[in-house]
Amino acid sequence: MSKIKIAPSILSADFSFLGNDISAITKAGADYVHIDVMDGHFVPNLTFGPVVIQSIRRFTKIPFDVHLMIEPVDQFIESYVKAGADIITVHAEATKHLDRTLNLIKAKGVKCGVSLVPSTPAWALEYVLDIVDLVLVMTVNPGFGGQKFIPAQLKKIQQIRAMINKSGRQIDLEVDGGINVETAKACIAAGADVLVAGSAIFGGDTVKDYPLRISQLRGANS
Ligand code: DX5
Ligand code: ZN
Repeated sequence: MSKIKIAPSILSADFSFLGNDISAITKAGADYVHIDVMDGHFVPNLTFGPVVIQSIRRFTKIPFDVHLMIEPVDQFIESYVKAGADIITVHAEATKHLDRTLNLIKAKGVKCGVSLVPSTPAWALEYVLDIVDLVLVMTVNPGFGGQKFIPAQLKKIQQIRAMINKSGRQIDLEVDGGINVETAKACIAAGADVLVAGSAIFGGDTVKDYPLRISQLRGANS
């Protein structure tokens, strides 16, 4: 079994302390920094523009896993690449021409991912699995941290794991929303290998807890 990767979502970090929080999760063993970009249109919340991402880039060398919850998306890809994204994930529901959007991302020299909201079936990925580097299964409705995990998504994770294995390609299967030690265990058993966690990592009051929280999530498969 491949190593479980942990991607702390900085949506739950202390924004007045963002650079330090990013250094702290890097030291604590995080594999990716998960950055939730929201537009107040595709999802009912607003977060980071490229300028914020550019300003935090110097605090770590680990990949920036940028989750774009924006619609339209194509015209913003270049600015997120320039700001320092390593992986750009878009929503299948937010672009009419998903194949074109993914090729736009690839053409900029970064990895591309597709995310599905809870009501979108696994087969939405069928004709893009030959291009994607990452699939992101939303295990809550996107827009906010701290929501409750939707158990029905476990079946979708299993279906996508089977599709990925059949493809023979190296594709991250990431889950996002309501991930804690208990739900992490279920997601890993269903086939996920990258866990996004916001409140489960940043939800406490001290950076000293980050290493333990990250290793507990990673160890949820043992
Ligand atoms: C929700 C975001 C998530 C969010 C997860 O739309 O995509 O990345 O930060 O937060 P938790 O882990 O608190 O559910
Ligand atoms: Zn996210």
